Amino acid sequence: MSSSSSQRESSKMEKIVSLCKRRGFIFQSSEIYGGLNGIWDYGPLGTELKRNIKDYWWRSMTRLRDDVVGMDGAILMNRAIWKASGHESTFSDPLVDCKTCKRRFRADQLDLTGCGQKPSKTPSTCGGELTEPRAFNLMFKTYVGPVEDDSSITYLRPETAQAIFVQFKNVLEVARKKLPFGIAQIGKAFRNEINPRNFIFRSREFEQMELEFFAHPTQGFQWLEYWKEERLRWYENIGIPRSKIHVLTVPDEARAFYSKGTYDLEYEFPFGLQELEGIAYRTDYDLKQHQQASGKSLECFDDETKSKFIPHVVEPSAGVDRTVLAVLCEAFAEEEVKGEDDKSEIRTVLRFHPRIAPIKCGVFPLLKNKPELVAKAMEVRDLLRPDMAVFYDDAGAIGRRYRRQDEAGTPYGVTIDFETLGEKGADLKDTVTLRDRDSMRQERVPITELVGRLRAAIS
Ligand code: GAP
Repeated sequence: MSSSSSQRESSKMEKIVSLCKRRGFIFQSSEIYGGLNGIWDYGPLGTELKRNIKDYWWRSMTRLRDDVVGMDGAILMNRAIWKASGHESTFSDPLVDCKTCKRRFRADQLDLTGCGQKPSKTPSTCGGELTEPRAFNLMFKTYVGPVEDDSSITYLRPETAQAIFVQFKNVLEVARKKLPFGIAQIGKAFRNEINPRNFIFRSREFEQMELEFFAHPTQGFQWLEYWKEERLRWYENIGIPRSKIHVLTVPDEARAFYSKGTYDLEYEFPFGLQELEGIAYRTDYDLKQHQQASGKSLECFDDETKSKFIPHVVEPSAGVDRTVLAVLCEAFAEEEVKGEDDKSEIRTVLRFHPRIAPIKCGVFPLLKNKPELVAKAMEVRDLLRPDMAVFYDDAGAIGRRYRRQDEAGTPYGVTIDFETLGEKGADLKDTVTLRDRDSMRQERVPITELVGRLRAAIS
């Protein structure tokens, strides 16, 4: 990246962070107490956006398929799980201390982090004296019950996957499924990241959308390819074009030792190409570990060979918050348009795919001091409400109201005017102006057609 394009991208990121705060997508957690590093809260618009992304993932990955069921595991689990999975001994990042500024850094990201004393420099260029790296376990430790001793230790889960592995047999039985089949889960995960950074990209509390897909050992690679293509299609369906996602075939030396093949789907964030989702062929590693440690069989029976085997697993694991950030980056645009008095102005717009937009339609009475317009607009709002998130706004000039919804990413706006009331002729009575966010074009639509038109566009 040239220095001018890198400046442009970092200013784009600043604008997105500021828009997120101003419009109530995302706030710093505990803000009035000075915040908590690496932890974020979602405001009204952010909550809707995140929910729509999770709902669409859930729908595509479970409800529209015969071979995947869902579960919702606990965040706290028996410590034995984290011992068997290898997290307790190896889920760590290399940590270095700077003896000069007393800060701590991830040893493999010294070029990416700001230095404490010299903010324009990084720990690798500031000249501070660094210690040798040591392993820092990323799991948050806690105690279950009132006694804080070794026997009550457990951890906040650092991934949702392990709950799926340890419930594999239960789910297989109750769901009456046969291999190949998968278990999907969405939920919180926690990692005590050494240097959280890039807004919600790397945080200490985040959400994952994970699928563990179980198959016969001979079919592992085939399902790895299948899920890579499915997941790319899924991102396209929420407005992230394939051309913006880079598929990295993770090289042997960078893969987890138990993985036979991993793809990282990387998105072109303003701060660089970074991982959005990992799709890993985890073999039978996890089930084997849990079978061995628990003493409970996690095997399946092969009807053809009449023998038992441990299923192999392919895991598409996506971050909810990273997907939120990617759709925000993809949607953000600033463009010059003609304002009300024909002067040009900058319009900030979030071009969310209608499927995931937090609000689907703005409803505006042309004037708020005309009771007939207000009554009709409320009627239209109530008509749309059961099918979609709508926002009623009667404050200020209509152009300003459109701009506010553009900034919130609302794909459609409906204006109720004197034509709607039939004051300009019977043929326009009970029609409204439907405005499209992206083209800003307006058309006249009968109220009776509104629900059908909008429902088709957002589903
Ligand atoms: N079960 C496999 C697993 O957890 P991972 O690559 O460590 O694999 C999967 O995490 C996804 O979770 C990542 O691709 C990313 O989207 C998200 N993720 C991981 N750490 C994160 C963090 N600190 N902040 C936000 N998202 C994170």
